[in-house]
Amino acid sequence: MKTNKLAINGGPKAVDKLGPFPTKIGKDELLEVLDLWQYSGETKAAITTLIEQDNGIKGPHLFRYYNPRPSKVAAAEDAMRNLIGTTYCMAANSCTSTLITAYRALGIGMGDEVIVPAYTFFATSATVAASNAIPIIVDIDDTLCMAPEAIEKAITKRTKAIVPVHMRGAAAQMDAIMDIANKHGIPVVEDTAQAAGGSFKNQMLGSIGTIGCFSFDYYKVIVSGEGGFLTTDDKRLYTRALNWHDCAACWRPDRFGPERENEDLFCGENYRMSELEGAVALAQIRKARTIVSRHHAAKKKIKDAIERFEGLTFRRLPDEQGDTGICLTLFMPDADTARNVLPALQAEGVPAGGIYDSKIRDWHVYNYWDHILQYKSVSADRLPWSGVPRNELPKYTKDMCPNSLSLLARAILIDIDYNLSNEDCTRIAAAINKVLNVYLAETRVFVK
Ligand SMILES: Cc1ncc(COP(=O)(O)O)c(C=O)c1O
Repeated sequence: MKTNKLAINGGPKAVDKLGPFPTKIGKDELLEVLDLWQYSGETKAAITTLIEQDNGIKGPHLFRYYNPRPSKVAAAEDAMRNLIGTTYCMAANSCTSTLITAYRALGIGMGDEVIVPAYTFFATSATVAASNAIPIIVDIDDTLCMAPEAIEKAITKRTKAIVPVHMRGAAAQMDAIMDIANKHGIPVVEDTAQAAGGSFKNQMLGSIGTIGCFSFDYYKVIVSGEGGFLTTDDKRLYTRALNWHDCAACWRPDRFGPERENEDLFCGENYRMSELEGAVALAQIRKARTIVSRHHAAKKKIKDAIERFEGLTFRRLPDEQGDTGICLTLFMPDADTARNVLPALQAEGVPAGGIYDSKIRDWHVYNYWDHILQYKSVSADRLPWSGVPRNELPKYTKDMCPNSLSLLARAILIDIDYNLSNEDCTRIAAAINKVLNVYLAETRVFVK
């Protein structure tokens, strides 16, 4: 018998069944992902047949929150926390995002200053400006990282963070930097984009300062295509970071609840990591120690086999044991020699690159950061530059860090791949010796 009694009053439900709904992401998408591995045609056909036969396939849940299955992003955060040794770890879609998140979690904004090195990928300082603060650019030294004495000179009443960057896989002078930061009560954000798995005096990079920021983009020590992680021991900063990286508040235990006492509610953005990147990152983090030790061994083999020349020096490593080993840096006696040696090494097949050539634009060196040097702004408010009186803005010039430029112009980088065999390392070292014996012949040191 038909009844109009409402379900809410105990009547029958008018809609008691919907669907079935196939999953939004199913077999086709899985095959596209598999295609990224470029399996042979035969393997692909075999996998496709297997997948096509499985009718019970459940589509993935690629959103990290509200996941009915264990989240890969959460597992990657746990693995990273264990690797780095901090209490908290938050995944994000890039290191650029984690840097902005770090500055915002620290409350940095208009009128504040953040100290960054003259040599780093531009993202370190672009994110300061994107957070409405002013990047204060300081010299590096022969560690290729921030010079502690340059930091001390740059500190003002506006300084709200110091951002050492562990360039090319190896640590900045973290003991001296932390001493300065602690003396002045300034937080340290370690830009560890290029040095995941490295350490300084037995402390993992990214766990020494107030916050650590990591990149997993395609070019880094461990990779997930795109991706970043933020590490910290500070619960309040972690909570504020979560809020900045997910303004939709999916991270919150009580999603739409009012602010809690730890100032966790403000307007943020969306930097969440997806489960696809989370899964790749998790597998990579599990391999991190092996990858680093293989880099390290290959680098040592090459470095030990290079002959001695008075005109040749190596990058100073504040902790050689903690180096990730992704890169070997040679300093030539002058920029002209470096300019000649580099193409000669490349012609021999050595994976070598330069850092700074006054004729080649590269955003790893401050004097090509036109957007900063020329006070560029995205909006009519002229932020971040309008945040301080005009006569108190930093006087940026192309030659403001001459020590950095002269060091970088003399540097040659040799990329170390962790798959290099012993024979590969021997061949690379022999090629380096072959070239140096021509260009640095007069400075050869004969070792008995
Ligand atoms: C030192 C440094 N910081 C930050 C970044 C930005 O990383 P991502 O590409 O993950 O945003 C990079 C990337 O090259 C980097 O080298």
